[in-house]
Amino acid sequence: MIIAVDGPAASGKGTIARALARHYGVPHLDTGLLYRAVALSLARAGGDPADAAEAEAATAFPDALLADPELREEATGALASRVSAHGGVRAALMERQRGFAAQPGGAVLDGRDIGTVIVPDADAKLYVTASPQVRADRRVREMEQHGISADREAMVAEIIARDARDMGRDNAPLMQADDADLLDTSNLTIEQAIQRAIALVDARLECHGKM
Ligand code: C5P
Repeated sequence: MIIAVDGPAASGKGTIARALARHYGVPHLDTGLLYRAVALSLARAGGDPADAAEAEAATAFPDALLADPELREEATGALASRVSAHGGVRAALMERQRGFAAQPGGAVLDGRDIGTVIVPDADAKLYVTASPQVRADRRVREMEQHGISADREAMVAEIIARDARDMGRDNAPLMQADDADLLDTSNLTIEQAIQRAIALVDARLECHGKM
């Protein structure tokens, strides 16, 4: 059983994907971490995110980097959205993601192009979204919980800029797959969003005779 969860930054897709993986007992891959690792590896090497060859070389990052706390920082996410626009970077990370999806028993993957490019034949696809204001509020709260103060208006602007980059790029832009279910979490609690996600996935699995 393969479940694809796509959506913009801070939409709740990561939390939902982790909950789905627990519910169905399958492993989960946060594919954003791979792009963040490329970004961090490039930044530490003093590379230029606009340079396709330098960004592609950074895809050979060591696995240990995936546990680096700096990956979670907002600046790393913003840089990731720049390096992820290069076709060579996306191609270099593709097999790793498809290999994860193909393991026996299946998997949940979350990202931007999982249902459209990485596993277009996934059994269930969710497109998780929320308004930029709600997403910015969530990010600010999350940062405050970690003792980091953040400016709400600057966060709204950053989220809108990141959406524009992710949706406007030529290579695998963020968009809802034709056969994906839309889940707008703007007015839902985390628990409500998870319950709704499980109901949508169950309905798809039933359709495919997988339940
Ligand atoms: O999901 P997260 O915020 O960690 O992703 C960071 C950036 O990596 C995104 O803004 C996006 O540009 C890129 N990304 C992508 N494709 C994915 C996952 C993330 O292009 N499957």
